[in-house]
Amino acid sequence: MSKKAWEGRFKEKNDPIFEKMNRSLPFDIRLYKEDILLNKAYSKELNRLKIITDEELKNILEGLDALESKIKNEGISSFENDIEDIHMGIESLLAEKIGDAAKKIHAGKSRNDQIATDVRKYLLRWIDEILILLKDFLKAIINIAEKNMDVVMPGYTHLRQAQPVLFSHYIMSFYFSLERDYTRLQDSIKRVSILPLGSAALAGSAFNLDRIRLMKHLGFESISQNSMDGVLSRDFILEFLSNIAILSVTLSRFAEDFIIFSSENFGFFELSDKVSTGSSIMPNKKNPDSLELTRGKTGRIIGNFITLFTVLKSLPSTYNKDLQEDKECLFDTIDTIIEVLKVNIILLESLKINKEKMRESIDSLSFATELADYLTSAKIPFREAHHIAGKIVITCIDNEKNLTMLKEKDLIEFHEGFKGIGDDWANIDLFLKKRELPGGTGIKSVKEQIRHAKSFLNKN
Ligand code: ARG
Repeated sequence: MSKKAWEGRFKEKNDPIFEKMNRSLPFDIRLYKEDILLNKAYSKELNRLKIITDEELKNILEGLDALESKIKNEGISSFENDIEDIHMGIESLLAEKIGDAAKKIHAGKSRNDQIATDVRKYLLRWIDEILILLKDFLKAIINIAEKNMDVVMPGYTHLRQAQPVLFSHYIMSFYFSLERDYTRLQDSIKRVSILPLGSAALAGSAFNLDRIRLMKHLGFESISQNSMDGVLSRDFILEFLSNIAILSVTLSRFAEDFIIFSSENFGFFELSDKVSTGSSIMPNKKNPDSLELTRGKTGRIIGNFITLFTVLKSLPSTYNKDLQEDKECLFDTIDTIIEVLKVNIILLESLKINKEKMRESIDSLSFATELADYLTSAKIPFREAHHIAGKIVITCIDNEKNLTMLKEKDLIEFHEGFKGIGDDWANIDLFLKKRELPGGTGIKSVKEQIRHAKSFLNKN
């Protein structure tokens, strides 16, 4: 049995049931690299302040290096099973290894500023990782958009056919949503990259630490300006969980569309076997489980955000043990989004697009707006034009006629204003050409969207 660092003040031992509840090591072991990094930088600072001798510093640094590979190889079994958390764990392993010098490294720091520093550093590492994956996902979208500029498909509102669009325009709509998710994460970095170390328990360290040196050494952008805020604030985690929840809602929407569009009834896309599953009873089935899980995992990601939001509400000032509850939701969100992104990159890179099926599926009625627009150009007020086009639509439905087959002369029977429209008015190329304004589905506009996207990715 190892001794607890705070045991001096106690007469009785913890009850094992509480001890288990209190123990964060099984999950905060993930922070071992950050905790070791922190201890190295901090010990150097204590050495500068002559609290640790040069000889002791050398032993501490070597000891910490050795611990890093030990924990990497042996995981939780590196520690005795009554060790409370990663900070106590590293300190006690170091003491086993190098003896008394290890007892000096906690001078002027608290686990309160230590945990806040470790988590911030850890999160910075994973935000970078997520940004890299998100960028790969964005590249995959751009690649598909660029390769399929000749593909048209029905565009939907209310999941009812509305107007045709370029398939590339459709897929780029996800790009832009995800670009905002990307920049939101990027922007949050400066609020994560604030060093709390030096705040100690709550009042600031009694030793004259050079916090700017520590900041530079540990790779942070700034230092916290108030020690009470330094140990308490977890809004940087909340912001991250919220940013990932928003990202995962975008991905869930993407998943929902792709589940629908890859179903037999639509048949617009085919998912590769790499990301599909079969049925244990029906030999015919090929199920889009990767997309369903992408959609489903949004639940836990939103849940993790709500968990921390609830934990933080009504906390009294500075450190309270409630804050230990910030970690599992954070770790789960990181793991989940990384997995979701990786799977969806594979999904996009192996996606088959059924051009013919998409083109054929465009309902002739989705050209009806063209009729109203034509009359509007012929100086008929739009509301009136809309009404006339509506009458044409209902006539086609009643007589089972294809709207796009109507010739100029047929249209003139409904209204004089159709003079000059020509017989080829429902031509898809013409439809696209009319929509080359910035943001429209015209070819020029979509090329411009792709150009923007590529330059964004080059710059970021
Ligand atoms: N395991 C704790 C956490 O995750 C570390 C900080 C403990 N601080 C304390 N005063 N007991 O929050």
